[in-house]
Amino acid sequence: MPSPALRLSGSELEEARRELFDFLTIPSVSANSAHRDDTRRAGAWVVERLRRAGLEASLLETGGHPVALGEWRGAGPEAPTLLVYGHYDVQPPEPLELWTSPPFEPEVRDGRIYARGAADDKGQLFLHLKVLELLLARHGTLPVNVIVLAEGEEEIGSPNLLPFVRKYRERLAADAVLISDSAMFAPGVPSLLFSLRGLAYLELRARGARSDLHSGAYGGAVPNPATVLARILASLHDEEGRIAIEGFYDEVVEWDAATRAGIAGLPFDEEEFREGLGAPGLAGEAGYSTLERLWIRPTCEVNGLLAGYTGEGAKTVLPAEAMAKVSFRLVPDQDPARVADLLRRHVSRVAPPEVSVEVVELHGGHPWRAEPSGPFFEAAQRALERAFGRAPVLTGEGGSIPIVSDFERELGTPAVLLGFALPGANMHAPDEWFPEEHLELGLQTLAGFYGELAR
Ligand code: BES
Ligand code: ZN
Repeated sequence: MPSPALRLSGSELEEARRELFDFLTIPSVSANSAHRDDTRRAGAWVVERLRRAGLEASLLETGGHPVALGEWRGAGPEAPTLLVYGHYDVQPPEPLELWTSPPFEPEVRDGRIYARGAADDKGQLFLHLKVLELLLARHGTLPVNVIVLAEGEEEIGSPNLLPFVRKYRERLAADAVLISDSAMFAPGVPSLLFSLRGLAYLELRARGARSDLHSGAYGGAVPNPATVLARILASLHDEEGRIAIEGFYDEVVEWDAATRAGIAGLPFDEEEFREGLGAPGLAGEAGYSTLERLWIRPTCEVNGLLAGYTGEGAKTVLPAEAMAKVSFRLVPDQDPARVADLLRRHVSRVAPPEVSVEVVELHGGHPWRAEPSGPFFEAAQRALERAFGRAPVLTGEGGSIPIVSDFERELGTPAVLLGFALPGANMHAPDEWFPEEHLELGLQTLAGFYGELAR
């Protein structure tokens, strides 16, 4: 197969953009049961594109939203097999009033495609579907067998994907997993990931009296679950920004000097970063740089808090309960279930007996660390360099893609993560966007990747 520097005509690009827009109009919000049919429709859309590209594809049931699975095995049993993973579900678009244009009516402004899922992950998944279609149409063949697995539950923690991977273990056997669900380091600076953080997500529920009480008639004698919860939350960190849960760091691996030197060598301007966020200051664990805090150190965040009266004016009430959503980003070799256990133990130690505090596990995922070498990794490196005109940098990622480490554990298949979104893409936020230019550059990178594998 000729090594293709993929040339796309203006009308081909225009067509690709139209097709992506079609995908982006489907409100496949996996978290919202009102969108169950829409989510399924997005899965069916992927299956249809896979078939059009020339793969054998079907929508396979799971306990939740279905998996779109496509296979092309024309390279034969001797050739390597690539497993492409992405997700067709998206985060809820709320708050709607903060969007400049409606989230499911994609629009281009200033070279950016705005829509929920434009970056995370429909825009990036689409590149993989489209490049297979283009390459198979042009060359009739690929240098490797390709399996495409697009799930509809990544944004809710992939609760049904591990059982699916186990069930279809033989069919999913591959030599590498290829994923585009992340961002480049900076505009014009492509990157390959050396890590993803894991996640342990929990809810804390503190309960006092049977019902809300008059804070004058009862306050002072009846414990306040909001105060108790606030004390518990405040006990999660020490003065140095470290997590103050006993045993929390036992499994945390210190990264090697070479990785830390690599991070230190990246062109990162902390002041520009702070400024870009509009934050008065930055904070984190003492002894680590901002990029290290984001990529190779664990965190504990309060994601939500609910207690008492929060409406207009004042109401003198002693709330009956208080709730907090708390999540931990994890690094190798931390385990989400063990972290949940440690939190439970911590809470039972610091919570006073006169308030009951329940800890409920919501979901979790293991951290992942790459082996940044091997033929697939190197093919990705060369393809990115050719498309973007400069070699990719190695970066970590603070976010999580729960299935990645499961793929490695269950299938024994290493993953290569190359993302095409840009920093500030507003993933999970209003005005999510994907650079229009990266449609072409992404397709060229992926075509180059297959071209490299052919060599
Ligand atoms: N695409 C993201 C992961 C990501 C985030 C990569 C930011 C690069 C930059 C993915 O869809 C995601 O949001 N994952 C969730 C996982 C969770 C819901 C289990 C996350 O990290 O919060
Ligand atoms: Zn996401």
